[in-house]
Amino acid sequence: MTERDFLTLKDLDRRELSDLLEVSSQLKRAPHSQELEGKTLAMLFSKTSTRTRVSFEVAMNQLGGHAVNLNWTETNFVKGNVRDEAKVLGGYCDALMARVFTHQQLVELAEGCERPVINGMDDRYHPCQALADLLTILEEKQRFTGLKVGWTGDGTNVCNSLMLGAEMTGMEMTVATPKGFEPKIQTTANIVRDPKEAAADADVLVTDTWVSLGFEHEKDMRVKLFKPYQLNANLLSLAKKNCIVLHCLPAQRGYEITSDVLDSPQSKVFQEAENRLPTAKALLMKLLI
Ligand code: CP
Repeated sequence: MTERDFLTLKDLDRRELSDLLEVSSQLKRAPHSQELEGKTLAMLFSKTSTRTRVSFEVAMNQLGGHAVNLNWTETNFVKGNVRDEAKVLGGYCDALMARVFTHQQLVELAEGCERPVINGMDDRYHPCQALADLLTILEEKQRFTGLKVGWTGDGTNVCNSLMLGAEMTGMEMTVATPKGFEPKIQTTANIVRDPKEAAADADVLVTDTWVSLGFEHEKDMRVKLFKPYQLNANLLSLAKKNCIVLHCLPAQRGYEITSDVLDSPQSKVFQEAENRLPTAKALLMKLLI
């Protein structure tokens, strides 16, 4: 088998992305199989995780394989060469899913490991989250083309990956961020300052934490700067009446999103979180079979 990595959404073409979402839907209807019997996934984490860790481990179990969880600080990644350590993991396991601090570290893991490497989130991208976001939008709207996606707040890794997803599926995306917090990539998305512009007539409104992992020391400054970008009832009222709300979680209630919005019928946030599981399964099947 040719080794195939999933470091960004761009590692899939449009047809593959569409097929993967279709398989994800099928897997929601038939969650258990032996498709990955005998296969092992190594999961390497430099940062904390609930959804990514558990969805991938459960995905492997429900497909007949299993997963090995590794905390970076408890392995010899802290002492050795990243490529060497990754090569060794590839010798034991059928794939490696990693959450690391920098995209460069992920590239080095992929260079060393001779098995597929999956980006479980780095500073630049969170493609597995984007798969779940896209599945949720498709389930709720039954299409992508012509939809308007509004992003308000920090231009995070989740924002970057959703921007790629919007471009690949024909959605129009508007991202509103304060100066200096724009997304790190360029796509067809419009970048604006005013969150009202992102919310206006939106079919989907999305936000993310203002204080990403590793930026806790900037919390006071960020809370003040991002306050006008809060996803609250006022902002949501500018969107279409049937606009859905997404957030990758964990959310800081009362900061980037208010509880009345997060718990409203328009919020599909927990459906989005659940969709991490079938999309992880579809991705693993694509890369491992
Ligand atoms: N959304 C997400 O990636 O969740 P975790 O950080 O809990 O994995």
